[in-house]
Amino acid sequence: MKSLYKNIKGTKDILPKDCYNIKKIEDFIHKILQSYGYGEIRTPFFETTNLFIRGIGESTDIVSKEMYSWIDQGGYNLTLRPELTAPVIRAYNQHQLSAISPITKLYYLSSLFRRERPQKGRQRQFSQFGVEAIGSEYPEQDAEVISIAHNVFKSLKVDNINVRINTIGSADIREKYIQELKKSLNKFSNDLSETDNKRLKNNALRLFDSKDPTCQKILDENAPFIYDYISDKDLNHFNKVLELLDSLNISYNHDKKLVRGLDYYTNTTFEICSESLGAQDALCGGGRYNKLVEQLGGKPTAAIGFAAGLERLLIVLNNQDKCQPIDIYIILIGEKSINKGLLIAEKLRNKNLSVNVEMLRRSMKSQMRDANKLNAKFTIMLGENELDKNEIIVRNMVSRKQDKISLDDIYNFTFIKNQE
Ligand code: HAM
Repeated sequence: MKSLYKNIKGTKDILPKDCYNIKKIEDFIHKILQSYGYGEIRTPFFETTNLFIRGIGESTDIVSKEMYSWIDQGGYNLTLRPELTAPVIRAYNQHQLSAISPITKLYYLSSLFRRERPQKGRQRQFSQFGVEAIGSEYPEQDAEVISIAHNVFKSLKVDNINVRINTIGSADIREKYIQELKKSLNKFSNDLSETDNKRLKNNALRLFDSKDPTCQKILDENAPFIYDYISDKDLNHFNKVLELLDSLNISYNHDKKLVRGLDYYTNTTFEICSESLGAQDALCGGGRYNKLVEQLGGKPTAAIGFAAGLERLLIVLNNQDKCQPIDIYIILIGEKSINKGLLIAEKLRNKNLSVNVEMLRRSMKSQMRDANKLNAKFTIMLGENELDKNEIIVRNMVSRKQDKISLDDIYNFTFIKNQE
């Protein structure tokens, strides 16, 4: 069968069996994030373009080439949100959440849009879940945020995860470091691409985001680490974060190259990666952004958060080929069984059971095959002979035990709900 239209490159239709699995994981994520005392926040899908330019930074990959932006009929410059930290902080400031409590813990799970080159684990519409803890400057807050991300992946039994962590210090050392970085790299200008030369000139820290192997090699061999420029206070903060991770039994690698591709970061940066993902191996990324609240008009407020890609999590869970189980499949044999079958299904659904009724008038054998495929826990067989005798056959599809019961007893039968 051909369709006249196709979905846009980098987007996906999610069909019922995948929706079912995704929903189960989403429910789990809501539960685990709430268990840390974080409250859900939902912000609009689009915001003014300026919010992202100011928040994320003009020379980042996201802002310079990946945003879906347009001028609407009223002349407003709008953008489909490419990330959620800036919108969450916009909402935090706008609704003066700091007046309610000196610490605000928020989480989200929703869709985002980036015009990136699609590949495994990279889409143009994708979903993130994440948290933003706003108000504490202390290292225990860093440790809590990292451990939440870690705990989500651990609880879902994601194998081979690797926590990479670094600190890029406070914003006030950035200028000095960037001057040193430029000094050490200027002589390679001829070897760098046009884009990387622009980065070198305008925001040299962004060279670490370059996907060009030549640039990465030059950095490896010549660039100083920002870690070596941080103040004693920031170093103490970082060491305390590492000590807390140790006591939480979270192992990590200190990766001095990890500066993360968004301009708002200060101090701690981290990513959790999985070997099963291939090139796009980051399951989540995050860090401190102690200046962003102020930069977006609020009072100086320390904050830290992370966001994780839901699609990447689903890839590593390799959990896509199960289908939604149902409690009961009603097998109908002969036309006379239809009226009774539909009525029984309705009444059982009112008892909070999920029930599928045959709609294709197929043979008993193919209905049974379908019941197996749908993972039904019970079948109820309704044939014309049975109806004449006011009887019904209930089959437990797991134990294979069959009971012949009176039709009136069906509503009192103990169906064990499908827990999958
Ligand atoms: P990010 O590193 O841009 O950070 O994205 C976080 C995660 O979102 C990535 O590690 C990845 O799992 C997923 N992701 C990003 N882009 C795509 C894509 N095109 N397709 C599929 N998955 C993707 C942020 O967004 C920051 N706002 C994180 C943060 C929160 N920092 C502090 N608070």
